This record gives sequence, structure tokens and C-alpha cells, in this order.
Amino acid sequence: MRILLIASSFNSLTQRVLVELRDRGHTVPVQVTPDGAAIRDAVSRHAPELIVAPMLKAVVPEDVWTAHRCLIVHPGPVGDRGPSSLDWAIRDGVTEWGVTVLQADEEMDAGDVWATAAFRVPEVGKSDLYRNELSDAAVSAVLLAVERVAAGYTPRPQAGGRIRARPALRQEQRRISWEEDGTETVLRTLRAADSQPGVRDELLGAEWFLHGGHAEDGLRGRPGELLATRAGAVCRATVDGAVWIPEIRARTGAGRPRACKLPATLALAGRLPDLPELPPPTRPSGRGRRTWSDIQYREQGPVGVLSFAFPGGAMSTDHCRRLLHAYRAACTRPTSVLVLGGRRDFFSNGIHLNVIEAAADPAAESWANINAMNDLVEAVLTTTDRVVVSAVGGNAAAGGVMLALAADEVWCRSGSVLNPHYRGMGLYGSEYWTYTLPRKVGTAMAARLIEEGRPVSAAASLGMGLVDRVVDCGPGEYTAEVTRLAARLASGPGVQSRIAAKKAEHERREPVTAHREQELSHMRRIFDDPAAPYHALRRAFTRKEAAGAPSTDARGAGAAVTAEC
Ligand code: COA
Repeated sequence: MRILLIASSFNSLTQRVLVELRDRGHTVPVQVTPDGAAIRDAVSRHAPELIVAPMLKAVVPEDVWTAHRCLIVHPGPVGDRGPSSLDWAIRDGVTEWGVTVLQADEEMDAGDVWATAAFRVPEVGKSDLYRNELSDAAVSAVLLAVERVAAGYTPRPQAGGRIRARPALRQEQRRISWEEDGTETVLRTLRAADSQPGVRDELLGAEWFLHGGHAEDGLRGRPGELLATRAGAVCRATVDGAVWIPEIRARTGAGRPRACKLPATLALAGRLPDLPELPPPTRPSGRGRRTWSDIQYREQGPVGVLSFAFPGGAMSTDHCRRLLHAYRAACTRPTSVLVLGGRRDFFSNGIHLNVIEAAADPAAESWANINAMNDLVEAVLTTTDRVVVSAVGGNAAAGGVMLALAADEVWCRSGSVLNPHYRGMGLYGSEYWTYTLPRKVGTAMAARLIEEGRPVSAAASLGMGLVDRVVDCGPGEYTAEVTRLAARLASGPGVQSRIAAKKAEHERREPVTAHREQELSHMRRIFDDPAAPYHALRRAFTRKEAAGAPSTDARGAGAAVTAEC
């Protein structure tokens, strides 16, 4: 079928629906647009048999939905209506939610139902839920709806009694009352606003949006007081405990450029009182006491699992150095298989563009960050005394994909979407991609992936050799499933001979430093050229502005404006 996707941004769900439909042989043009006029144009250009809107904030023009079958993905169960569905669901503490594919109609979210799917709601932030459980459910509902369209199915009207329309959840309703709210309420409030719009709050004499929240059971203090810092996050007391807040964004107010979301201690630099910096516990805390750490190591027999979770998958110079330190420590342990990753959600999206954008000298910070990332990749590439497995639990992009490729095996979850290219940010790329990508998929496919800059599904990644195993499970089961598979790998008969062969191969092969030097010479030129598109694209991406610079098509990060691919 010829299915036109229309979306307000080329976000994770749009990418997932695109790759899943393409994998099934459909022809799928995409129109990324903020307005109805562009939708009309795209429809007349592509003459689609079906229109699907995975994430649309604009209203579909009436002449479009009356002349074409147009399906809207609504992130709520049948009867739920309104622009803040997931926010309300998390705030209300629901444990089950749904996603519905509706026919576009005069009234928003009121059309007939083509398909619906339910999903479990774990205690994670809204954007994590959206990229994972909701995406899985949305894909199955969209695929069912497409089958039903082909089969001539008649969609069902929404039943009157089940309709529940709720308005946008406003900042006034998201307020945290630090003097009254307990940890669970604070966490729900933060999760319901993560990653957008964040929770507006006052702290140290200024206004901020707070992003992300993790429980801390070991610290107490006066409610609202800052208690400690850890790995860029601040810990703030609630009435009955405390929470870690990893990122914040300064409120600049209307008419002023939007500030970047940053690690909290960086955003608060110069304002923070003298607080203890508590080193992250590298091992999971026992006895049910909750705390937060972005890097963790655990062992199960001959398997080591070094997991990490950085907000937005962005890895700053500091993240890369800390992860490298932890990687080196993991390599001193008597394990035969080391799993890198294995947590749900983003594996990595490469260097931290926000920290770079906020730096006094973005070119210098870009350079420091890419070198720190390369040091980490090199450590993985040159590990010869054990099998290293990258376990990608969610999506990965740019240098984050290349980090995964440095391992001996790459596994991903069935719902992962990979973007193995740097196209959206106008970068040549580094992370030894010129060595690892052709090694995995061959020279011709590597060139195609880099030039075309398209997202790739887990299944297609497996087909082309970009990944070696697709773990078919839900996001909540991924960690346990990966650990089980790694244990099987470690106890298999061939593991020691495989390690010996790997060592011999490493001694024979040319050193990979030439790849690093060649890639970095390109990157240096880009970083040092203020007119290079990278700088404008980075600014637009990190400040969520329309990219005024080149390349505003739907393949890369600068695609939040009218665009097509
Ligand atoms: N640096 C800083 N922040 C990043 C980031 C990066 N490399 N990659 C993603 N993020 C942030 C996004 O700004 C977004 O922030 P928000 O929650 O405040 O909105 C969040 O992570 C999630 O990303 P989003 O773009 O909403 O997710 P998506 O699933 O729709 O798209 C990508 C994923 C990876 C395609 C897109 O984020 C992207 O292109 N990232 C940049 C990749 C890159 O060029 N890296 C640098 C070169 S190595």
C-alpha cells in the first residue's frame, strides 16, 4: 500500500511506524510538518491510499480527511481524549493504559476506532514509556488497522459512556509543593512531565524546569532543601525522603531564546551551596533501599553487566570518562562475557549536544567530547580477554550506534530503532565508524547508511548484519533476558576458543588508530569552522528552534520543521 505518514516531528514513534511499515513492503513517504497547508500539498503530491499520523499536533484539514482515509494514533485507550493523555495517566498512577488508532474526524480524538492496544505502565518517565511500551502497542495497533483497511473492515464508533476528555495538563497543576509532597507524589509529578515540559519550580533564587526524578531512600533533610550532588544530579529533600533530579533547564521567559536542558549541577554552577558530592554506588543497592546511579556494574557467574542510562542518551565528556573508568574496572574482573548496556530505553545518542551548546567554547567542548567518546570506543575495540556484547535496549543514534558496534556482538530489542549515521547534525562522524560499520555490513551498505541517513528497524538491522541478535521481548523484560542469554553464551563450549581467536586476530590486524586520526581530522575542520552547518543544526536541536540552516529534511535531528523524505 502507499501510506503517507504525516507528523509534527520525525520523532521516535514516527520513525518506528515508518520502519515497521517499510519492512512489510509498504511504500511510505513521510511529511513532517507543523501545518495543515503542507499536509494538503503532501497528499496531492503522493496520492496515498492511506494516511497515518503517528504524532500530529496540527489539525488535519477537512478536505483531506473527507477525501482520504486518515488514521490518527492517539496515546490513550478508547474514549480518552485530549492533548495530555500520558501525562494524566502517569499522574493518576494508572498501571494499564492504551493506544488507539482513530479515523480523523471533525472533533479531535472523536473518530471511529480502527484498532486499539493495551500496555502496562511501569514506573518510568513519560518519554521512556512513549518510546517503549507505548511504541510497541502503537505499532501493533497501526499494523492491525492497516490490515483492516486492506480487508474492508468497518471501524467502530466510540461508545458514549466511555468518553473522557481532559484538558492539557498545565504547569499550575504540575507544581510540586516541597513542604507537603511525599517522595511518591514528587516522583509521579516529575515522571508525568518528563521529558517535556518538565516541572516549573524555584530553586536557589531562579526559575527552572526540572527533568527526571529518582527516589533516594538514604538521605533526609528539610523539605525542599538540596542535600547532595552526584554525577551531575542534585538530591532534594521531600517530606518523607528525597529525590535525585539529573537535569534542569533555566526558564528564560517569553521572547528570549530557550535555554538548553543540562545536567543539574552544570545549570546551577555558581549558585550551588557547598554540598557533599556522593560517588555513585557502582553496584545495585541491596535490601530494597532505592538510590540513583547512571552507571552500574553487576556480576552473575562468568557474566559482567556494565549498564548505563544517560538522559536522552546523550553522553558528555564526563559521562564518557566515567563510563570508560567503569569499563576498565569491569575488565579487571574474572568474567568471560561482558555486557555493555542492557537497560531499557536509549542506549546512546552520541556526544552531548546540549553540554556542547552551553559551553563557553563549543568547538573545544565538541573536541573534548568526541575524544572522550573515542577513548571509550577504543577500549571496547581493543578488549581481547573476554567477549564483549553491546545490549541495546531501546533506540540508538549516531555515535551511540557506533559505540555499540565496537563490541564483538551487538544485540538489540525487537522494538529498537537505530540511526547509524550523522546526517542530522552535519557531522562526518567518528567513534571508529569507518572501521566498524563496513566490518559489520560491508562497504557498500555502510556508505548507503551514512549517506541516506535513514532509521533502521531491529529486524532490518539483523538482516543487514548491523546487529547479531534481536531479543524479542517487552522493554521491562529486556535486562533479565539479556542476562540469561549472556549466561548461556558464557557457559557455551566455544567461549574460551573464541576469546583465543579474538586475541590472535587482534595481534594480526592493522592498528585502528589510522581510522581515528582520519575521522578526527574531518571533525576538527567542522568544529573549527563557525560557518559549518553543524553549529546551526546543533543550536536548533538543543534549543528546539526551527533549523534555519541547511538539511531540514525528515531524516535527521533538524527535522522539526516542514520537511519530507
Ligand atoms: N545530545 C543532547 N541531547 C540529545 C542528544 C544528544 N546527542 N540526542 C538526543 N537528545 C535529547 C533530545 O534533545 C531530547 O530531549 P528532550 O527530552 O528535552 O526533548 C531527548 O534526548 C530525546 O530525543 P528525541 O529527539 O526527542 O528522541 P527521538 O527518539 O525522537 O529521536 C534521535 C532520537 C537520536 C534521532 C534524535 O534525538 C537525534 O537526532 N539526536 C542527535 C544525534 C546526534 O547527532 N548525535 C551527535 C553526533 S554523535
